[in-house]
Amino acid sequence: MLSDKLKEETKTNHQILEKALVGQLKAIRSQQEYADLLRLFYGYFGGLEVKINEAIDKDLLPDNAERRKTQAIADDITFLGGDVPAKAEGDDLPRINNHLEALGALYVIEGSTLGGKIISNMMQQQLQLGNKGLSFFRSYGDNTEPMWNTFKGILNRQAQNLAEQAVVIAAANETFLKFGQWFEKAKASPQPSLTEREQENKTVFP
Ligand code: HEM
Repeated sequence: MLSDKLKEETKTNHQILEKALVGQLKAIRSQQEYADLLRLFYGYFGGLEVKINEAIDKDLLPDNAERRKTQAIADDITFLGGDVPAKAEGDDLPRINNHLEALGALYVIEGSTLGGKIISNMMQQQLQLGNKGLSFFRSYGDNTEPMWNTFKGILNRQAQNLAEQAVVIAAANETFLKFGQWFEKAKASPQPSLTEREQENKTVFP
């Protein structure tokens, strides 16, 4: 099934991204640092969702609108007192020119709701947030598993032949890779507070 192939063939890129992110997440000690991380997600997912909306066949993904994350991320940033940044565009984003490529990118965004549960718990423990500022990472809440299963079901009813499946898988991998590059780019002009904490974190959690 396509969903199984996607999991297998994007595994390495997921691991690389997860590893890079966990260090940053553990280092977060203030709402401002958390807002800075959300700004990175906003820029990339925000730009991605614009392209997905243009390319997706809404008849084939009826709950498409419900799956958008841009507004939730913006709301969290605003709650934390941060400025909502510009969205990524051009070469910072993967190529998404048709429905199958949009599905590959959506696989990455929708899959992030699974790790989001872990991330929102980390942030809640590290910061005094109550229940605010976590709407993006909490995502569908108790509905996360059904929403994921529905999405996988839809994926598996499309891209029937190997060539079409390869298009979805390549788009998903490019979406992971470009996200990693987006993070690297931000590190090249770092938010000082986050970088300091990251250094500190290396000593505290070797
Ligand atoms: C600290 C960061 C992260 C952690 C700890 C994490 C953890 C996880 C875990 C535990 C799962 C499996 C859940 C399950 O099978 O029930 C998962 C799945 C997934 N995650 Fe992450 N994740 C992280 C970040 C991300 C990010 C940022 C993205 C996308 C940009 C992402 C994309 C995915 C995808 C696509 C899957 C689905 C794999 C499948 O096909 O089953 N993850 N993640």
